[in-house]
Amino acid sequence: MGRDSDLTREALRQQLEADRLLGIKSVPISPPPPRQPGARARVGRPVRSATAAEQAEQLGVLDETEVKGCTQCTLSDARTQTVFGQGSPSARLVFVGEAPGYEEDRQGLAFVGRAGQLLTRMIAAMGLTREQVFICNVLKCRPPGNRDPSAAEILACSPFLRRQLAIIEPEVLVALGAPAAKTLLNTSESIGKLRGRFHDYYLSGTTGEGPAIPLMPTYHPAYLLRNPAEKRKAWEDLQMVMRLLGLPIPGEMSG
Ligand code: URA
Repeated sequence: MGRDSDLTREALRQQLEADRLLGIKSVPISPPPPRQPGARARVGRPVRSATAAEQAEQLGVLDETEVKGCTQCTLSDARTQTVFGQGSPSARLVFVGEAPGYEEDRQGLAFVGRAGQLLTRMIAAMGLTREQVFICNVLKCRPPGNRDPSAAEILACSPFLRRQLAIIEPEVLVALGAPAAKTLLNTSESIGKLRGRFHDYYLSGTTGEGPAIPLMPTYHPAYLLRNPAEKRKAWEDLQMVMRLLGLPIPGEMSG
């Protein structure tokens, strides 16, 4: 047995490990897609202007002075606490979900319930930890009964998200589910149509204006819990993100 078969075995082991983490049971019939440049041309992404310590400070100020006391919409009446999001203030990768649920509202942390546990496994399958990325939501308060956010709530709250992203300046964004993708891309297209390719997220909030960050829309972990057969597609989306970040892909040889 030579080095090549050792590498193949290692690649297969990594792929099976990623499948195990994500709970993907079937073995793919088709081979992994060929290596491709992940995103469309990057549109003038800024050179990072702040240190990690400054980014942490800026995020802390935004949370303490504006988000925690926010009463811009009626969600503030019912919340236990706001959920700002957490992770690395200088993360290369940011995940954006919809809104806190019951557990998130109780703990003050994003994605800590059942959907959050699957997100943790998705991040681990990418070879990363939650501490290395940043995880947040479009809304910082829980909609009662986990109902869908209203357009007015998204309008009131999304400037906080935009400011978080402007501070973190990630290299890539993953929008988890339709509300996050539609808000960040200012589109009404369905998640099924949006996923599977990179889009440009404009830091200015206006399409075509100023620097942009590649954004991958994918299925929300709560949807994947209800529809496990779709995990394979979400994993394909995350592998495109991994390629863009230069992370090793399980089952693919590097070099
Ligand atoms: N669903 C979300 O969109 N966000 C969370 O933080 C938890 C569940």
